[in-house]
Amino acid sequence: MKTLRKLILLSITTTILSSCVPKTSVQNKAGIDPKSFQKELDGKKTNLYVLTNKNGIEITATNYGGLIVSIETPDKSGKFSDIALGFNKLDDYMTSSPYFGAAIGRYGNRIKAGKFLLDSVEYSLPINNGPNSLHGGLKGFDKVVWDATQIDDQTLELKYSAKDMEEGYPGNLNIKMVYNLNDNNELKITYEATTDKPTVINLTQHSYFNLAGEGSGTILDHIMMINADHITPVDSTLIPTGILMPVAGTPMDFRTPMAIGSRIDSICEQLKFGLGYDHNYVLNQSKPGEMVLAARVVEPTTGRTLEVETDQPGIQFYCGNFLKGDLTGKSGRPYNFRNGFCLETQHFPDSPNQPNFPSTVLRPGETYHHTCIYRFGVE
Ligand code: GLA
Repeated sequence: MKTLRKLILLSITTTILSSCVPKTSVQNKAGIDPKSFQKELDGKKTNLYVLTNKNGIEITATNYGGLIVSIETPDKSGKFSDIALGFNKLDDYMTSSPYFGAAIGRYGNRIKAGKFLLDSVEYSLPINNGPNSLHGGLKGFDKVVWDATQIDDQTLELKYSAKDMEEGYPGNLNIKMVYNLNDNNELKITYEATTDKPTVINLTQHSYFNLAGEGSGTILDHIMMINADHITPVDSTLIPTGILMPVAGTPMDFRTPMAIGSRIDSICEQLKFGLGYDHNYVLNQSKPGEMVLAARVVEPTTGRTLEVETDQPGIQFYCGNFLKGDLTGKSGRPYNFRNGFCLETQHFPDSPNQPNFPSTVLRPGETYHHTCIYRFGVE
């Protein structure tokens, strides 16, 4: 009898104690240890933040680089898996990440030869991708510590102030980026930014998805739809030539849903330059800034779907052509060639050098706005 009473007392004490554990040390669904994301860098603390909704979807993110670390969603039988490629430790992101889950800026994608003219002044950026500047330079917004405020269980606000001439870009730029996971299973990302000098800006999110689960193999069987009649074709260094190319009659056409791998090895100059799909699609919008369904992806075995909506003029579809098996992901499995895809809502690459592309110039007194929705579902 005495032993039974002791046992009951012990179990009550354990329950009370475990409900007092601070939130950041609670084990998340993805099994990521928050401690491996806690550091002090550039005088700021980094941490892991957990967003959850009423349907059990869970997203973890860190204020280092605004990285989305994991996205746990159910398949058609209700089994949860992590569908975002990435690492278990901040150290791995800091040493060797190809922008897994990253917030990208000040300028997403490439700027030709790392040079552009703005109001007759020439600016020079770090060259970090062949002859060009990619994703904001050597220390882009994916490698800085953002100021984080967890507003509630579903909302993380991240702020960063980039200095005038940081990575060669003019203007002190104040950015607010919000990750909101709502009960409609949407991750809504909103960006706002202002500057004190004319500058160029193109922010985006660089999550790599595999809807069958990260580390589960290629994404070539995923069925892709992209709502675009044109791409901005590129040269061999992946800089747009400046024209808009109709996708009709080419393997670049995803207006009708198609397996990503169905035409990826076709003889096609664009696929040769990109080593596969690595292209900016010009979204079909009836007016600039219209929120449209940009892409829809289905993974046939798990039934998971991903829909992407945006108000931006373009979306970069990149299918992991530079992954080569030398990086080991969260579940201990290597990320091989084409094991993840990105759908990066954005302005067109190299716009600062392309007078015919929608402008990416931001001037004092104006506010940059960008909304991107990733909607997770099953069918
Ligand atoms: C973007 C680019 C790709 C590649 C990846 C990162 O999506 O378009 O060419 O550089 O980033 O590896």
